[in-house]
Amino acid sequence: MCRMETLVFFFLLCLKNPVQTSGCNLEPSPNHCVCSLRDLQQSERQTFLTCLAATTYELRGGDLSHLGALSNIEPEPQLIDILESLTVRKLIFTDVVVPEALLPGALAFVSYAPLVSALEFVNCTFLRAAQGPASAILGVKVSSLRFHKVTAEPLDDRFDLSPWRSWLGDLENLTISESQVTSIPCKMGAAFTALHLLDVSGNHFQDLSLSSSFCERAFPRLQVLKLSHNHLTSYETVCKSLSHLHRLIHLDLSQNNFLLEVSSFPCTWPESLLIFNLSATGLQYTGRSLPPNVQVLDLSANSILTLSLSNPGLKGLYLSNNRLQAVPSVKGLPRLEVLSLDQNQISRLPSEALQPLTHLRSLKAGLNPYNCSCRQYIKEIQALATQRSLLPDWPHDYICKSPPALENYLLDEVPLSSLQCNKGLVSHGSVVSLLTCLHLLLCWLPT
Ligand SMILES: *[C@@H]1O[C@H](CO)[C@@H](O)[C@H](O)[C@H]1NC(C)=O
Ligand SMILES: *[C@@H]1O[C@H](CO)[C@@H](O)[C@H](O)[C@H]1NC(C)=O
Ligand SMILES: *[C@@H]1O[C@H](CO)[C@@H](O)[C@H](O)[C@H]1NC(C)=O
Ligand SMILES: *[C@@H]1O[C@H](CO)[C@@H](O)[C@H](O)[C@H]1NC(C)=O
Repeated sequence: MCRMETLVFFFLLCLKNPVQTSGCNLEPSPNHCVCSLRDLQQSERQTFLTCLAATTYELRGGDLSHLGALSNIEPEPQLIDILESLTVRKLIFTDVVVPEALLPGALAFVSYAPLVSALEFVNCTFLRAAQGPASAILGVKVSSLRFHKVTAEPLDDRFDLSPWRSWLGDLENLTISESQVTSIPCKMGAAFTALHLLDVSGNHFQDLSLSSSFCERAFPRLQVLKLSHNHLTSYETVCKSLSHLHRLIHLDLSQNNFLLEVSSFPCTWPESLLIFNLSATGLQYTGRSLPPNVQVLDLSANSILTLSLSNPGLKGLYLSNNRLQAVPSVKGLPRLEVLSLDQNQISRLPSEALQPLTHLRSLKAGLNPYNCSCRQYIKEIQALATQRSLLPDWPHDYICKSPPALENYLLDEVPLSSLQCNKGLVSHGSVVSLLTCLHLLLCWLPT
């Protein structure tokens, strides 16, 4: 059978005669076997034994268009025994031209290898099949399917779903990223009855195509949806299109550009939503409706100047790379555990501003233009770093911006003894209150 050049499955087929095979090596990890199709075609086959224990097989580079006719490969009984004993879990095809007609046969073949649960196509070109598979695709255990940078003709109504329905209905994870997809036909979405995770990052989804792709019946069990880096512009339209996904837990809308909308209508996000990513979406203010039970909110890389949130359940708030001039009000966030404020315009971390956060365990606040004019300003940051061990980016990212004499000093290396407030603001009274404040802080902090 090796002689038949059924290259897609050469590694499976040729196991029957392991010493005869070729062009494969265990890179980049001992569990990951990479075989080059081109080498295989040219060179004499060398040993394949090195790859026997790998759990990931990757097949690279080649044109399988002449294999379209081999869509009904029935393995011999001997071969089935071998397939059933394989340890491979993931198959990856990289830089390959694949006729769609080959897929049903390929899947049938793979279904004999009991542990294969993930299939990936990276930078592959799919050639359109004249017709769909003759019979239903049954018994496929692949539950995770990934297409990255692939080219195919649009999956419009040409696609007859019925032979695929059984498998699609069992699929748990589907990724179609950076593949210029503009929409998913509603009836196709409806076939993914068990899908947990859908990642369509880096495509061309727009507000309108989103509502048709996520029609009422589509993806009824979806928990994770990644729509990062598409062409979405209306926050409210997106919300409306997705509001019926009552099991959605994690929504990634990062790297879209939500325009400022003058008149916006209210919309309610699913109550199930806990992780919400609005990183790099052009947001300037956050007066918009947020998921009511959100626990992790990523607002990094926007243009936010001020912020006032009230979300009693919020545990993680990411505000890196915005335009905040001061620590935002955190009174409405009693459960916050992780806060990032790095790369803003914050000049101080006053201890009283952070005091309400009794559950805080990590505060990233480096790369801000810190004011080192007063000893107190430095002390309060040091206290966070040393006593509460809160600052993961301390000390290397904490640099003085002012006064000019201390510019570019690490906060940790400023000679405190020589320091006093340059405006003489620290009068007797404020020194006393400062000491009282520090004293209270120290007593109150757990040691
Ligand atoms: C994608 O695959 C084609 C062959 O199918 C190859 O010529 C090209 O270099 C690959 N591109 C990348 C970025 O790997
Ligand atoms: C699906 O994706 C999730 C998250 O990436 C992962 O934890 C899970 O193992 C995947 N499931 C399958 C069947 O591959
Ligand atoms: C949000 O998305 C950005 C980029 O798209 C990513 O770097 C970041 O890790 C995500 N945040 C969370 C909390 O997952
Ligand atoms: C730094 O703090 C001092 C003392 O409060 C103040 O006089 C000064 O204006 C601040 N510098 C900047 C750049 O904010």
